[in-house]
Amino acid sequence: MKRIYLDNAATTALAPEVMEAMLPFFMEQFGNPSSIHAEGRSARAAVEKSRRNIAKAIGASPAEIFFTSGGTEANNTALKGTVRDLGVSRIITSSIEHACVRNSVLSLERGEAVQVDFVRLDAFGRADLVHLAELLAASDKKTLVTLMHSNNEVGTLNDIVAIARICEQYNAFFHTDTVQTIGYFEIDVTKYPIHFLSGSGHKLHGPKGIGFLYVNKNIHIAPLIDGGGQERSLRSGTENVSGIIGLGKAVELALSQMPNWREQITALRNHFKKELEINFPTIISFNGDVEGKNHYKVLSVNFDAPVAADMLMFKLDLAGISVSGGSACSSGALKGSSVLLALGVPTKLKTIRFSFSHYNTREELDRTVDKLKEILK
Ligand SMILES: Cc1ncc(COP(=O)(O)O)c(C=O)c1O
Repeated sequence: MKRIYLDNAATTALAPEVMEAMLPFFMEQFGNPSSIHAEGRSARAAVEKSRRNIAKAIGASPAEIFFTSGGTEANNTALKGTVRDLGVSRIITSSIEHACVRNSVLSLERGEAVQVDFVRLDAFGRADLVHLAELLAASDKKTLVTLMHSNNEVGTLNDIVAIARICEQYNAFFHTDTVQTIGYFEIDVTKYPIHFLSGSGHKLHGPKGIGFLYVNKNIHIAPLIDGGGQERSLRSGTENVSGIIGLGKAVELALSQMPNWREQITALRNHFKKELEINFPTIISFNGDVEGKNHYKVLSVNFDAPVAADMLMFKLDLAGISVSGGSACSSGALKGSSVLLALGVPTKLKTIRFSFSHYNTREELDRTVDKLKEILK
């Protein structure tokens, strides 16, 4: 029987349209975009078209988009570049950022003696904006605020428009990790002052190993990776042409389908949530702002059951169902989730993250509920 994939916050299947767009760039149009001959020019034209697509999707100009190897590199480039080149000596962040942000901030705290302050979170994991303003008002140090748009484990959305405005008021730089939300929510950098944001192909049915960093045109940071000066010298290395084409196509597709897919995925998530509530009324609870401003693809569920979380995942996996406990981004390791800990989820609860895509069906979700009934009976 076909496996049921409910781990779409970890990664997504490549869309056939994306695959089709990428294929010519492996064998026919294999040129190096820096070469001046026909093969090179054709690759360059395709790369720039992709850049224009991505820029258009977020209201940026193409010169503000830099291709990277993914969300991790994009976030590292922004955070480390800001501290190194823009005179930043303080970072305000949260305790539930993705590891690539969290560990970049910790490395800057150690190596560059940057002061790090943590904004208070509410019970859903949303940044407390009053506290953010207080923190900003409390110091004259040049500050970078880095807060993610959607948390990858529980799906809570931060109000990045309000955060951007507060940062502007206190003359702070604002970086937001939008890896989980690009292609799922409207993002328009012309409407509010964002200095940096990041995206990653594999979260929206594009390829792995490709992402981008948006850098506001008034900002100039030095590269993390030096070399031949590609990506207007911010990110050297021969471009991942097929990946870039795939990312551009995935963003274009996600944008054109956003209302449909959003409706479809929301309906799947609501159906699944309702079925869980009907079948496990006394042993389940949810994390994040499930009924409010949450990512519609994520449902983080706590089970109060005498079965270890890894065993629950393992049994689902054996039954052909892929889910994740906490975040899969820390190399799939089953160590305690710092996000759930920060949100005060009791450690005795077993948490499973179900995350959906428009490729899922109701029938798959019903089968998952049946299997959970078997395992938890
Ligand atoms: C919120 C968030 N930021 C960053 C990343 C890292 O992106 P990438 O896998 O492209 O390096 C991930 C996922 O892995 C993520 O969920």
